[in-house]
Amino acid sequence: MFRRRTISQLIATAALLPVPAAAQGGRPPSRIAFGSCADQAQPQPIWDAILAWRPDLFIFMGDNVYGDFRGADATKLKSAYETASQIPGYARLRETVPHLAVWDDHDYGKNDGGVEFPYKAVAKDEFLKFWKVPATDIRRTRDGIYTSQIVGPPGMRLQIMLLDVRWFRSPLKPTDKRGAPGKQRYLPDPDPAKTMLGDIQWRWLGNELRKPADLRLIVSSTQVLAEGHGFERWGNFPLERQKLFDTIRTAGANGIVFLSGDRHIGALYREAPPGLYPLLEVTSSGLNKVYATAREPGPNRVGDLLAAANFGTLDIDWPGRRLTLALRDVQGDVRRSLAIRFDELRGAG
Ligand SMILES: [Fe+2]
Repeated sequence: MFRRRTISQLIATAALLPVPAAAQGGRPPSRIAFGSCADQAQPQPIWDAILAWRPDLFIFMGDNVYGDFRGADATKLKSAYETASQIPGYARLRETVPHLAVWDDHDYGKNDGGVEFPYKAVAKDEFLKFWKVPATDIRRTRDGIYTSQIVGPPGMRLQIMLLDVRWFRSPLKPTDKRGAPGKQRYLPDPDPAKTMLGDIQWRWLGNELRKPADLRLIVSSTQVLAEGHGFERWGNFPLERQKLFDTIRTAGANGIVFLSGDRHIGALYREAPPGLYPLLEVTSSGLNKVYATAREPGPNRVGDLLAAANFGTLDIDWPGRRLTLALRDVQGDVRRSLAIRFDELRGAG
């Protein structure tokens, strides 16, 4: 199919020639699916629904396998990838649908892990191998796995930024009351020395946000806007969360939608920071790993938690400059959705 091949080529070549070549290409993807948290040791029936939806692009948002490991040989991570490679639906999607990937803690190798994880370079080698990242890709010559793509011609430019919130991330502040509502694992840490992205990735992000685009997806494996729980989220470092909003505002970056995973629940979020348009976030987790009894207050949440296996979809009407965000279940049925015009994603809130 011509359109599919074009997108595939753009994604394959964009690492070499990020903006100019890609931006001159054909139509950008208009049907984007995404998901996270796929336990290779459990059945994964959801791939049938994802493939049936016929995405132009799929984004793996982390915990793409569960391969926590404690030694330089990374035996558990390697065998997790090996098992995942033999799951028919997972394999078919990787063979037939253009895709992008980032990691979260369980394909990084350590539960809730960050900068301190001693085997992260080993995990990165396995990540690059499994995801067939080209030999010339910039991720092979810099720390972490953050990356970005811009596809589509002027007026229909889609920018996708994949953040690495593991490689550089400072240690989190442990809770003083494990399991207590709102402080289950971690407490907000306002220490200005703590970083989510690290200096180099912050500089990169600031530059990316200055590039022209009509719609920008920022993929962060951990939740950005969500409040009201004490698991991992950007709110663990409130100053870094604020810095993200400030960086967006300073760059004048329109069209942002956050995509996240990690939580074993699905939900939509909305927040309008002072001086910014309303920011939206879709959390889709997990593809087969579900926190079925999840309950939490959601000051920024739009609607209820979806405590069932799910994947996310983004339907973009490029000529009409509208998009529909949705969470779908294992049957492919829409369980949450939100429609928005590009015009609503610009300027001050
Ligand atoms: Fe995770």
